Amino acid sequence: MNHFQFQNGTLHCEETPVSEIARTVGTPFYLYSRATLERHFKAFDQSFGDIDHLTCFAVKACSNIAVLNLFAKLGGGADIVSGGELFRALKAGIPASKIIYSGVGKTEAELRAGLTAGILMFNVESAQELERLQRVAADMNVTAPVAFRVNPDVDPKTHAYISTGLAKNKFGIPIQEAGELYQQAAAMEHITVKGISCHIGSQLTLISPFIESLVKVKAFVGQLNDQGISIDHIDLGGGVGITYDGEQPPHPQEYARAIKDELGDLKATLIFEPGRVIVGNAGILITEVQYTKSNRGGENEKKFVVVDAAMNDLTRPSLYDAYHRIEPVMDQGAAHERVDIVGPICETGDFLARDRELPRVEQGDLLAVMSAGAYGFTMSSNYNSRPRVAEVLVDGTSHTVIRERETLESLINGEHIPEYK
Ligand code: LLP
Repeated sequence: MNHFQFQNGTLHCEETPVSEIARTVGTPFYLYSRATLERHFKAFDQSFGDIDHLTCFAVKACSNIAVLNLFAKLGGGADIVSGGELFRALKAGIPASKIIYSGVGKTEAELRAGLTAGILMFNVESAQELERLQRVAADMNVTAPVAFRVNPDVDPKTHAYISTGLAKNKFGIPIQEAGELYQQAAAMEHITVKGISCHIGSQLTLISPFIESLVKVKAFVGQLNDQGISIDHIDLGGGVGITYDGEQPPHPQEYARAIKDELGDLKATLIFEPGRVIVGNAGILITEVQYTKSNRGGENEKKFVVVDAAMNDLTRPSLYDAYHRIEPVMDQGAAHERVDIVGPICETGDFLARDRELPRVEQGDLLAVMSAGAYGFTMSSNYNSRPRVAEVLVDGTSHTVIRERETLESLINGEHIPEYK
């Protein structure tokens, strides 16, 4: 359930009319609901309330420090994949002791930053990363807490670009080769073996792939224990899907029940890295219609609604052919027509929706692109020299700009014209 609902034909975010925010903030902008963010975080976290666990929000899904701060206040940790995300998580008030660091390409500077902060663990993805971490930790005279991210070779049955747990994907260490690395790590002076991690993909709508990989991880943890290597943190990654358009992903409670059943008497702190399931339906993108036009060619007349948001603001439709529901902010009961909703960028791939039935809209109307809270703003760019849009957080009847719209000046920040001789 989310707090974006129509009241008297006008879209509201909690108790605030979206059109009112558009009037003061301008368009386009991302809009988040505090009540929904908190509700979704708690729904996930409390599903595991009866067992030892830590919910580390996947910062990449939505990294505004105001959003991260809400989760910090609810006891959440963070799953980060860069030094930038570490910086944000700490700024937002997430304790280092609740931060885990994933990703295949951590630089030396990033490892150093994680060690300086004192994070909970590094999810190491290769033998070379382990060696580098040992060297950096030795240099700093500290001990690095490590989990290995294993690749269980399980098909998550999701979009190919966001599937990560197959042998052909770049992620993790093949589970059959990981034992050797655990042995090496256990013998390293500046490494402490802390856990194991595994993340098989995103937007999963089935529980079975999660369980399939847990079965493999559990068997492997048993082998490690037999070899005298104890694993006290098991990180099961993120990946529970959401409804964009009729998908029926498992409810977090169902997911939790299945995990707990499979876990049996295995004793460890469970770590989760949910992103999309918490923020996806807690944020929308508001855009204004600039023009409507039709291109008549043969019998295929095509109608276009040109809006002021584009693929640089929300890249998911162009990149993954992803579906986002689109609603007029003022529902005036207009007749429907089939349109493409496109942005101003000079590429045919710049669309938010294609061949979509939409109530007839006119110049100046506002549209809401739904389910845009995850991988929306965080994947936005300045392509076509478009300043990145504002982010706004609603709390009941009030709203706060939690990230200002970029200015033209900010577009060229740090650029220099050389002084030619
Ligand atoms: N943990 C790790 C190691 C990950 O790589 C990811 C997502 C997550 C957790 C969070 O997964 P979630 O709970 O959000 O499914 N840009 C794509 C999604 C990329 C996901 C990358 N990894 C999209 O817009 O669909």
